[in-house]
Amino acid sequence: MLEAVNISHSFDYLLFEDVNLKIKPKDKIAIIGKSGSGKSTLLHIISALLKPQKGEVIYNGKNLYKLKEKELINIRRYEFGVIFQFHYLFNTFTALENIQAASLLAEREIDWKLLKRLDIDNVIHQNIQTLSGGQQQRVSIARVLTKKPKIIFADEPTGNLDRNNANEVMEILNEYCENNNASLITVTHDTELAEFFDKVYKLKNKRLEIWI
Ligand SMILES: Nc1ncnc2c1ncn2[C@@H]1O[C@H](COP(=O)(O)OP(=O)(O)OP(=O)(O)O)[C@@H](O)[C@H]1O
Ligand SMILES: [Mg+2]
Repeated sequence: MLEAVNISHSFDYLLFEDVNLKIKPKDKIAIIGKSGSGKSTLLHIISALLKPQKGEVIYNGKNLYKLKEKELINIRRYEFGVIFQFHYLFNTFTALENIQAASLLAEREIDWKLLKRLDIDNVIHQNIQTLSGGQQQRVSIARVLTKKPKIIFADEPTGNLDRNNANEVMEILNEYCENNNASLITVTHDTELAEFFDKVYKLKNKRLEIWI
């Protein structure tokens, strides 16, 4: 369904080269690697946000970065869901307004059970800036799941959460994938989350290799 072929990318220095990755429906994979190795950059490349300097990203048989702008926007809006490392919520809006924005854009209903499960239903009318880091992270996850994406790209989705909350969030993401035939690609430094994935890859020495 999604395939990265021979991807290379540099900023000030070469981050990685010849990265290959295949994702099928319901696949749950993680990418680990040390800080600065290019995990977020790779996630942005495969999630239609950043064109790689070399290589191709093929989604349902089509080269993502050769699509017309309108087609690419539709994929970003309806099919891909990105949970960012720095969440980019609208800070002056309430949690609910942030989720409503996603609901309107993707034309999907808000799932109140999900908000309860994420334990944010009780703070839903508060402004984002009055929420704790972990609550903000859970709002950003609710925002993405509300879109009902086919592929979730999650960049350190549990970075601000304690162990219990981190496990709970991973369970929610996994259940979402099971129930919606969706796939999950997670970037994380937390190797204790490995049990939640079918496969774990590591960005190391500028290459992506299988870790587990
Ligand atoms: N838009 C950009 N312009 C210039 N350099 C960038 C840009 N984005 C990332 N970089 C650089 O690329 C390198 C890799 O960044 P990236 O955010 O992909 O790493 P990471 O593996 O996600 O790190 P972390 O674990 O700390 O989140 C860093 O040195 C960063 O400064
Ligand atoms: Mg990162």
